[in-house]
Amino acid sequence: MEDSSVMDSGITSRKRISFGAEGLDRALNGGIPKGDVILVSGPTGSGKTILSMQFLVEGAKKGEKGLFFAMEQKSSEVIEQFSAFDKNFINLVNSGAIKLVDVQASDFDSFMGIISSEMESIGAERVVIDSITYFQMFFGTSADIRKAIIETQFLIKQRKATGLLVSEVQYGKNYLSYFGVEEFITDGIVSLKAIKRLGGIVRGLRVIKMRNSSHMTKLCPMEITESGIVVYPENPMPLP
Ligand SMILES: Nc1ncnc2c1ncn2[C@@H]1O[C@H](COP(=O)(O)OP(=O)(O)OP(=O)(O)O)[C@@H](O)[C@H]1O
Ligand SMILES: [Mg+2]
Repeated sequence: MEDSSVMDSGITSRKRISFGAEGLDRALNGGIPKGDVILVSGPTGSGKTILSMQFLVEGAKKGEKGLFFAMEQKSSEVIEQFSAFDKNFINLVNSGAIKLVDVQASDFDSFMGIISSEMESIGAERVVIDSITYFQMFFGTSADIRKAIIETQFLIKQRKATGLLVSEVQYGKNYLSYFGVEEFITDGIVSLKAIKRLGGIVRGLRVIKMRNSSHMTKLCPMEITESGIVVYPENPMPLP
């Protein structure tokens, strides 16, 4: 979908950028408001990394530099994993359109130093941190973690990028995030679901909030296909 500057239900006029997953822009009434920082939450295997990488690939196609900060998984593994969905992905990495960084920080200050200098050096317009659950390594209290997420979001906005913060949630729990504070800080939340049903897993995606936009609120069916995540906002979720 093309970027648009169309007013959305009179709330605000913000340029939208395409998320990069088929169908998701329709659930978002046109895409993510440019410059926002969105939480992508879900249990393990729900598609958070794949969706985040599609977001960067979409930007790269439009000439927007993308940065992926790998906190818990090696970037080489992420490249291998995503290349199965997108044969051209390695070319985007080799040409510098998307840069993956293995973050090895022992404290939050050095983490912020890495994020800041990498963003500045390539002029990143789209940024993914996968995942901020790693912040538990830096801090002992939820107040400190909350402050750290606020500072991270501020940095992304200060550098005029649009960001995704990935957060894990425990499988089967109805939480929105790992620490229980992320959802209050970020501008929006895309919640991925993997619901166990007889015969397998049914996947779903719900846009929980998007501060600068109207959006669908229903749980939309979602699939991980051979070309990545596809969302079906017009379809009902299959019955149990
Ligand atoms: N080729 C494929 N076709 C369909 N589904 C696939 C394919 N490859 C992987 N998957 C699905 O994608 C899931 C992995 O997605 P992803 O790595 O984005 O999850 P995640 O939410 O980031 O998980 P984690 O929290 O463990 O990092 C796998 O568990 C599998 O169900
Ligand atoms: Mg992942």
